Amino acid sequence: MTLFDSTTPLLALAPMQEVTDGAFWSLVHRYGGADVYWTEYFRVHATSTPEKRILDAITRNTTGRPVIAQMIGNDIPELVRTAKALQQFPVAAIDLNLGCPAPIVYRKCAGGGLLREPQRIDAILGALRDAVRVKFTVKTRLGFASVDEFDKLLPIYARHSLDALTVHARTVAQMYRLPVHFDRIRQAVETMPCPVIANGHVHSAAQAQGVLEQTRAHGLMIGRAAIRNPWLFTQIRQQWRGEAVTLPTGREVADYVRRLWDSQAGLDRPEKAQCERMKKFLNYLGEGVPGDFLHRIRRTQTAADFHGICREHLDHDRPMTLMPHEL
Ligand SMILES: Cc1cc2nc3c(=O)[nH]c(=O)nc-3n(C[C@H](O)[C@H](O)[C@H](O)COP(=O)(O)O)c2cc1C
Repeated sequence: MTLFDSTTPLLALAPMQEVTDGAFWSLVHRYGGADVYWTEYFRVHATSTPEKRILDAITRNTTGRPVIAQMIGNDIPELVRTAKALQQFPVAAIDLNLGCPAPIVYRKCAGGGLLREPQRIDAILGALRDAVRVKFTVKTRLGFASVDEFDKLLPIYARHSLDALTVHARTVAQMYRLPVHFDRIRQAVETMPCPVIANGHVHSAAQAQGVLEQTRAHGLMIGRAAIRNPWLFTQIRQQWRGEAVTLPTGREVADYVRRLWDSQAGLDRPEKAQCERMKKFLNYLGEGVPGDFLHRIRRTQTAADFHGICREHLDHDRPMTLMPHEL
């Protein structure tokens, strides 16, 4: 069975810059894991070479699950050159980012910025489809400023024999704000000749089941909620099978944070820098921990402080839903 042929929903860990490195994939895998892992994006331009750090994650992948290499850029010969180089590595697919909302990216007409130029997307997809010998996928938002732009984008995506389309059902202008327009994912499922993966604010097993039912998507891609709750992939599978959903206890969450610390501890990284690195993860995890945990963690500068706060808030055996407070 190949990557997109599964009969159960395909669960993907979303690409997240400076978060979803190889160490994080391994950690997520420990808790049941995703069915497929996306790399952070490779930046593609005239003088780019694929980032060694991300290539290392691909070659050292310990999850036993497939990896998809994502590129961001707009220059056709450079994208083709990079895709050809990347497919020499053990990747199941090459993915094109058409959603990044960072102004520094979209102002250069890459990532989400390309959504303002559908004809250019058409040309890029044509060239990449010809060049890519592994599977070729696209991850898109619904449009730049309006969800109605999706009506013009979908026929372009449908023309290029993609192997899968991931839809983050927000516009670029929306950044990460709600609502997520799940009805547009359903529209993609009904239009596209390939599997569609639903993305955007999936945050619990029950809600994930609802998203699958509403969108009829082939799978789910999960980003921030997987940092908060790496058990989520297992919980979604339990929900899908009609089993009781297992929640981690406070101590299990504390153990996850300790493993996260160890997995990110660079040998020569000063303590304060390690605390800053951890905040990239704890900003999400902290949303699922009641009380002033996140407020306190954001102020830590030493390992002793960091671990002390974790002990105070997580040294218990009560089950934790790890749902964000503000839902
Ligand atoms: C810190 C961070 C970094 C991200 N980096 C990328 C990236 O490199 N490529 C990409 O396609 N999307 C990136 N995204 C977007 C996510 O892949 C995903 O589409 C988005 O977070 C919505 O899913 P979620 O609500 O499950 O987090 C990033 C998101 C976050 C929060």
